[in-house]
Amino acid sequence: MWPNSRACRWGSWPTALLLHSLVALLVCGSADAFTILSPFSYSSLSFKNLLNSVFLSSNANLAGGGRNLKSDVLEDASLITPKLIRKYGYPSETHTVVTKDGYILEMHRIPKKGAQPVLLMHGILDTSATWVLMGPKSGLGYMLSDLGYDVWMGNSRGNRYSKNHTSLNSDYQEFWDFTFHEMGKYDLPANIDYILSKTGYEQLHYIGHSQGTAIFWVLCSEQPAYSQKITSMHALAPIAYIHDMKSPLFRTLVLFLDFLTAATRMLRITEFMPNTKFLVDHSQVVCHDNAMTQDVCSNILFLVAGYNSEQLNKTMLPVMLSHTPSGASIKQLEHFGQLMKSGHFRKFDRGYLRNQLEYNRMTPPDYDLSRVKVPVALYYSVNDLLVSTTGVDRLARELPNVIDKYLVPMERFNHLDFLWAIDVKPLVYNRLVRNIRRVENQRAKLTANLASFLAMQLQRQQQLQNQIQMQTQLHSALPPNVHLPHRIDQGFMMPTATAMPLTTTTAATMTTLTTTPTTPTTTTTTQETATIAEDVMEPTTTTFPFEFAA
Ligand SMILES: *[C@@H]1O[C@H](CO)[C@@H](O)[C@H](O)[C@H]1NC(C)=O
Ligand SMILES: *[C@@H]1O[C@H](CO)[C@@H](O)[C@H](O)[C@H]1NC(C)=O
Repeated sequence: MWPNSRACRWGSWPTALLLHSLVALLVCGSADAFTILSPFSYSSLSFKNLLNSVFLSSNANLAGGGRNLKSDVLEDASLITPKLIRKYGYPSETHTVVTKDGYILEMHRIPKKGAQPVLLMHGILDTSATWVLMGPKSGLGYMLSDLGYDVWMGNSRGNRYSKNHTSLNSDYQEFWDFTFHEMGKYDLPANIDYILSKTGYEQLHYIGHSQGTAIFWVLCSEQPAYSQKITSMHALAPIAYIHDMKSPLFRTLVLFLDFLTAATRMLRITEFMPNTKFLVDHSQVVCHDNAMTQDVCSNILFLVAGYNSEQLNKTMLPVMLSHTPSGASIKQLEHFGQLMKSGHFRKFDRGYLRNQLEYNRMTPPDYDLSRVKVPVALYYSVNDLLVSTTGVDRLARELPNVIDKYLVPMERFNHLDFLWAIDVKPLVYNRLVRNIRRVENQRAKLTANLASFLAMQLQRQQQLQNQIQMQTQLHSALPPNVHLPHRIDQGFMMPTATAMPLTTTTAATMTTLTTTPTTPTTTTTTQETATIAEDVMEPTTTTFPFEFAA
């Protein structure tokens, strides 16, 4: 629209102004759950001054005992994911993949040679760091690595690790012309194919949080063949139907969706909350244990995710808030806003005319959840302001292969607790690992059954071959005017590796065997044929000896 125009960022002054008025409105509207200094006002001058004074005073406080812990926490806050992983004694690798539409994505890996790969996808405004930033005691990345998995953590386009492009520059708005739809359509296939080719595996486990689940539904709906590449999918705080979202912040924002869309277009704002040095520095200053403003930080989280003071380790706030938020496109938020408003889980609404051009209909088409053939486990909670239980119920009804639907048994467990809660392991991850193992065991059993079934088939085919040979010999021994019912020695195939077609052929041939004995010429031969046919027919019901378990 504005070729080569420079993209504005969320933190620039027009946005700050716009948001100030909105946030003021919000805080007045629903002040019960949080006491908050406008969370988005960090770019205003007065707030900066406040931070600086806090910084100075808190430095004076910190001469004493907490020093090591504090410097440790502050270091964690400033390290990028691979360095953070290495700091805690795990190996780490960085891989880059290029999507079909040219975005260059970074993936972080805790490698384990020859092990089953698992792909972890973060939510909106988040990064790969989210799976490790709470440290080896409760980070899912470390936990899976300890259990013997090859852990891959993706980064969606637009976050701080995936801001490069083969031809576009993220300073310009053309770069930011995407929603989560493109992440499902281009980013995930690129990630998955790269991992599989690198590891030699045919399938991987997928674990997503929030938007990381939505893009998975998009992938399977848009490219159903990818279902074949996933052993199991685990959805933490799954997003699809978000009409009933409870978040007062987003409920209010969505009322202004049209206005906000128009305003951001006019102001050419395309990027939302990038991970700037300013944000990193100041979250370290404002959120650490000795800062009197620490409550502001926790309230920012509660505002977005749901109130829960028990499960939040406040000491880690500087780490959380310096790694997150980490950049998203405005269009991406707009798309989520549309889902909230319409109650559908569907493609981006471009307006009547452009919908006609793009989708050949007035409204955008829904994503087809029935194509998600993968075994899916859903993990959700009551106090999640972004995911309603009714939304998850509907999602579970529409997904064809749900193996677990787990409501976390803690009333105040919120959206971000799925990543950072103190007790996230006993509350969620242990169950997740059990589900992974369950699917793997079922697969193993299935493979073993299939193998023994094939062996059985092979044996039976061999027997048949022998019978035919015998019969052919018999045939040649007969006087020339005696005819056996023909087709007996036709139609047998040599045993092959595929089970199903083999069974059908066998069954068909066996039918031929029993039905063909017509107009016998001599009694002896008919009897011969009949006995042979009976032998062959012994296992009449060729049912598959096991079920394809869900
Ligand atoms: C992205 O571009 C920046 C700046 O050119 C460069 O420093 C960085 O290494 C690039 N990252 C990738 C993954 O290509
Ligand atoms: C909170 O985090 C700090 C720093 O990593 C850690 O020392 C402490 O044990 C954590 N607290 C709880 C309750 O897990």
